[in-house]
This record gives sequence, structure tokens and C-alpha cells, in this order.
Amino acid sequence: MTVRVRRLTTADLEASLDLFEAVCAEGRWLASEAPIERAEVRRTWEALLATGDGTLLLAEEGPGAPPAGLVALVGRARPELGMLVAAGQRRRGVGTALLRAALDWAREAGAPEVVLHVFPHNVAARALYLAHGFEDRGLVLRAYPRRSGERWDAHRMVRPL
Ligand SMILES: CC(C)(COP(=O)(O)OP(=O)(O)OC[C@H]1O[C@@H](n2cnc3c(N)ncnc32)[C@H](O)[C@@H]1OP(=O)(O)O)[C@@H](O)C(=O)NCCC(=O)NCCS
Repeated sequence: MTVRVRRLTTADLEASLDLFEAVCAEGRWLASEAPIERAEVRRTWEALLATGDGTLLLAEEGPGAPPAGLVALVGRARPELGMLVAAGQRRRGVGTALLRAALDWAREAGAPEVVLHVFPHNVAARALYLAHGFEDRGLVLRAYPRRSGERWDAHRMVRPL
């Protein structure tokens, strides 16, 4: 699959929110759970784009195609990474392309490292991060309250740049 990664613009917000909402609805991978507060997420993303204190990138097959995946970097000094790929587009290299572009952005921003949290059951994401130089710095216990009442652990991972 030929995938292009570019900075998200305000024109991409609605389609990107649709994708975010769909992956949240899977219920297993992201800290946010469906139903999301779309207006609130939209405001957060708009602020990120406006301030430049981080970035949002999207992957697409071509101009006009719906976004195949998204990556967010929050903060410039020590960016925190979050990413997702549409369920029907996984295991085709989209995540790899997004992660490479995100690391390039962080390097250009002068960040010494990129950090993230990932759930222990997320085998796909953990394999992707380990393959791209992230180091597992251990479990943060019961850090993520879920709507079910459970609290999930997360691995803290760091990618030195
Ligand atoms: C994690 C995720 C972003 C990976 O995106 P992707 O486009 O499928 O990733 P790629 O196709 O670029 O795969 C790159 C590598 O990741 C690993 N990987 C991806 N999916 C995997 C899976 N299901 N099982 C094991 N390893 C997997 C492999 O090492 C793979 O390389 P390979 O295909 O050469 O073996 C995607 O699965 C996703 O969006 N999941 C739901 C949201 C999510 O978990 N976000 C991260 C939260 S921390």
C-alpha cells in the first residue's frame, strides 16, 4: 500500500474524528472510550494545531481518501505519542509510516525522547514500538480507569532520539 503521511488540517477534522471514534468503539486499545465527547476532542485537536505544541499527522492512500490512520504528538519538549490505524487497514504498513513521520517530527522539534503508554494486551502496538527503538520502562499499575469499573495497567515506553 502506498501511503502518504501529512499534517492534519482543519478540513480533515471531521473524518479524523470519525476514525478516532471508531477505534475508541473497539474498546480495547485507547485510553478514551466510546462514546467520546466529539466537540471536546475537536477543541483539543484544534488547539494542538493552532499552538504547535505538538502535532497531528494523518496517513492516507491519496488525496481525498479517508484517513487510514492518525498519530498525535502532544508537547514539543517531551512529546507524548498516541496513534491508531483504521481496523480495515491494519498490518499494511500504515502504522510504520505514521510512526516514522512522528519520530522525524519530534527529532526536528529538538525533543530528546518520545514517550507513550500502551496496554499490556496490545500485542500489535507493543511489537511496533519495540521494532522502532522504544524501550519498555515498566508497568504503571492501575493507571487507566475504564467505564467497566476496571483499572488497567499500562507499559511506559520511551524512544530516545
Ligand atoms: C498498533 C497499530 C497502530 C499498528 O498499525 P499497523 O498499520 O497495523 O502496523 P504495520 O502494518 O505498520 O505493522 C508494523 C509492525 O507492527 C507489528 N504488528 C502489527 N500488527 C501486529 C499484530 N496484529 N500482531 C503482532 N505484531 C503486529 C509487526 O511487527 C509489524 O511488522 P510486520 O507486519 O512486518 O510483522 C494498529 O494495530 C492499531 O491502530 N491498533 C489499534 C489502536 C492502537 O492500538 N493504538 C496504539 C495505542 S498505544
